[in-house]
Amino acid sequence: MCAKKNEILNNFNNEIVFLQSDLFKNFPEYLKSSFNIIIFNPPYLPSSSLVNENKNEKKIDHSWNGGIKGYEIIIDFIKEARIFLNFKKAHYIYFISSNRTNLDELNKQINELGFENEIVEKKHIFFEDILLNRIKVI
Ligand SMILES: C[S@@+](CC[C@H](N)C(=O)[O-])C[C@H]1O[C@@H](n2cnc3c(N)ncnc32)[C@H](O)[C@@H]1O
Repeated sequence: MCAKKNEILNNFNNEIVFLQSDLFKNFPEYLKSSFNIIIFNPPYLPSSSLVNENKNEKKIDHSWNGGIKGYEIIIDFIKEARIFLNFKKAHYIYFISSNRTNLDELNKQINELGFENEIVEKKHIFFEDILLNRIKVI
């Protein structure tokens, strides 16, 4: 597993717990309300409906395809992440997005979920601005 190899390469000594999960679906109950920081580099690019209806969708598409609008996975992720945050302390969720998605719409949905968003870093690479977002409960 790539993550396990990175643990070894970075000299962590079996200190990291790995879970394979569709978003938070395999996360155990006891982890609820326990995280101060949650980080996700999601698939964030918009795909046309053509790609999503394509029966030949490949596994690799999950690495970039964030849904027709590009932010659907991000919204699902935020909805599921909420109960894993520890609201007793400072708590943040960091995730990546791109200017190739409609950021106004994304921010509106984030606000509707009760979070405020701050862009803390921005970098232009190839065909897009890549944005580091930090959200916290309002
Ligand atoms: C942009 S890639 C990031 C890859 C790597 N984590 C990194 O930061 O370089 C998006 C990753 O999200 C994963 N992913 C897509 N949908 C997911 C889901 N529903 N639950 C968990 N991971 C998902 C993909 O498998 C892919 O590894």
